[in-house]
This record gives sequence, C-alpha cells and structure tokens, in this order.
Amino acid sequence: METVTVNTASASYPVHIGPGLLDETGALAAGVTGSRTCAVVTDSNVEPLYAARVCRSLQNAGFTVRLHVFPAGEQSKNLPVFGEILEFFARNQLTRSDLAAALGGGVTGDMAGFAAAAYQRGIDYIQIPTTFLAASDSSVGGKTAIDLAAGKNLAGAFHQPRLVVCDTDTFRTLPEEAFADGAAETLKHGLIADRDFYRFLMSEDIHARIDQVVRRNVEIKAAVVGEDEKEHGRRKLLNFGHTLGHAIEKVSGFAVTHGHAVAMGMVLASRAAVRLGHSPAGTLQEVQSACRRLGLPVECPYTAGQLFAAATADKKRDGGNIDVVVLEEIGRAKTVRLDMEGLRSFTEAAL
Ligand code: NAD
Ligand code: GLY
Repeated sequence: METVTVNTASASYPVHIGPGLLDETGALAAGVTGSRTCAVVTDSNVEPLYAARVCRSLQNAGFTVRLHVFPAGEQSKNLPVFGEILEFFARNQLTRSDLAAALGGGVTGDMAGFAAAAYQRGIDYIQIPTTFLAASDSSVGGKTAIDLAAGKNLAGAFHQPRLVVCDTDTFRTLPEEAFADGAAETLKHGLIADRDFYRFLMSEDIHARIDQVVRRNVEIKAAVVGEDEKEHGRRKLLNFGHTLGHAIEKVSGFAVTHGHAVAMGMVLASRAAVRLGHSPAGTLQEVQSACRRLGLPVECPYTAGQLFAAATADKKRDGGNIDVVVLEEIGRAKTVRLDMEGLRSFTEAAL
C-alpha cells in the first residue's frame, strides 16, 4: 500500500493506494474517526460489484452500516437524487458524529460528498474511488457538487474527506472507455504540471504501472490543492480542457463522458492557444497524439456557436470574465482571462 498525505488549509488526510484495499476500509476508517455508524452511498453498477465487501469490512471494524444505491450515471448527479441521499441520511438518523462513505466513481464521490457537506451543516465522509478518474482526480481535493439545468457542478461545496481508500484492483472491472476517462485527467496532470510524468505516460503501459500512475496523480493534485484549496489561483490550472469540456458534456446531454469531453477540451484549448499565440507551435500535435495513444478522442462534433452558448453558463465565469487554461509548454500551464468576446474568439479559434 502506498500513502500520500493531502495537507490543505482546512484538513489533512491520507490517500491509501493499492490492490485489495476494499477489505481494509473498515480498519482504515476506524483509524480516522470515532463514528460508529457509516452511511455508504453507491451507484447501481458498483453496488453488485463491491458494496458487500466494503460493508462487511466496515461491520467487522465495529460500524453499523446503512447502504443507499442510486441509478448510475452523470444523469443522476442532480437535485432530486441528491435530495434522496439527504433523506436517506435523515431516515437513518445520522448525527453529526456519524460518517458517510462514497463508494464509486466521480459522480458518487461528488454527490455523496456534497450531501455530507450539506447534511446537518457538514458531517465527515470518506472517499472509496472505484474508477481510475475518481482515484486520480475527483476523490482528492474536496470539491463536491451536483449539476443544475444551466450547467455542470453549479451547486456544491468544498468539503475535504477524512480519508481516501483507493483499491486499484477495482479498475479491472471498468469498461475500456471508462478507464480512458481516467487517462484524460491523468494526461491533464502531466500536461499542466509535470513533463517527466507526461513522458512516462507516453512511453509506459499505464495499466501495468497503475499504482504508480495513481500515486503521481494524487501527488500532483495534493500539491496544487495544498497551495490553493479554494481555487483562487493555481488550482484553476486543474481546469485545463474543462471550459470547453463542460460545454461539450452539456451540449451532448451527457452522452459524452467527462473524461472524453476533457480530452476534446484539451485539444480544442491547445488549438486555440497556438492560433492566438499563447502556446508554442507543436503543442496541438503533442496533445492530439497523447490523446490518441490513451484511447481518447481528438475531434469535437459540435460547432463553436453551440459550445460558446453552453460555456457562458460555466461556473468559472467571474463577473463578465472567464479564465481559460493554456499550455506555456508541455508540463507548464497558465490562465488567460477573457471577457465574453474573448471567449467567443477563443472558441472560434478552437474549432
Ligand atoms: P462515474 O462515477 O459516472 O463512473 C463511470 C461509470 O463507471 C459509471 O457507470 C459507474 O457506475 C461505473 N463504475 C464505477 N466504478 C466501476 C468499476 N470499478 N467497475 C465497473 N464500473 C464501474 O464517472 P467518473 O468518470 O468516475 O467521474 C466523472 C465525474 O467526476 C463527473 O461528474 C465529473 O464532473 C466529476 N469530477 C469531479 C472532480 C472533482 O474534483 N470533484 C474532478 C474530476 C471529475
Ligand atoms: N478537477 C479540478 C479540481 O479539483 O480543481
């Protein structure tokens, strides 16, 4: 088992990474909390695969366990399903000294984490990521959210988990496309922060080196959120590919998954950045060939007009402005502040 410690202004917690860790969940959770009741939230795909093992492990460590299952998919990351999780907590008389656990991918982690942030003004929770994406990105850093009709992640809270338990064996049951979603956020980390990691991804079999890959992802993310927990500055760099990526998800009605949309978004942002003089020539080709190597799309099926309309509802708008992330070189990124006309030009240059 490998452990990375995340230190933010509001919390410090361990991220344990390794094979077979689901069976250690109870012991690891008991080590960070005095809670006796644990409310496990999971989705309908993950429940038959892993819920029994996690619940058994928690029970063996002395927890009384309650389980809530919601229909899998981004389409569930909304107010009604969020409300059902809060009602489940209340029905089971969870108190502020009890614990919630998010077992699943980023949808589960974001939504159960937000429910933990909101219920009784905040209860403790742990993350048990079962997708490569959740392990490498969403389970770490404390961003929790649900989607609103106007766009992705428009309601949420910063609420750090007490613990992250990442059993890398769980990725074996992921469909190839879902694994590629995690590769997109992994590539993002290399492109914005670590050229050597990017080169590693371009030369190694990431399936065979998965524990090492997750660990480096978590280290990169921990360093960023340790410096800027609430996204006032450096954390914005983690949004590389996300302004247009979120627009693609929205325009597709969430038929395009988050990781695939981020991959397209990174390609589009790189094309616009090269054309507008923010990134060196050759950046686009590097990002495109990296996406292809990792089984990710490089073409976007939507028009600039569709993406601009969707992106203007993005939460990262600050007054009339929006920060887009561009690569200064492979391994180093910066933000560029655009007004709405600037965003229109950026989107047109992206396609
Ligand atoms: P997801 O949670 O929908 O999981 C993808 C699919 O895989 C689902 O159908 C799920 O049921 C299934 N699944 C999960 N684990 C499985 C396993 N081990 N075996 C088989 N199937 C499994 O999506 P995701 O890609 O994990 O996460 C995407 C979400 O994460 C988006 O909503 C995105 O906005 C969010 N996100 C949040 C952050 C953050 O910092 N909070 C960062 C990145 C992404
Ligand atoms: N995935 C973006 C962030 O955590 O800030």
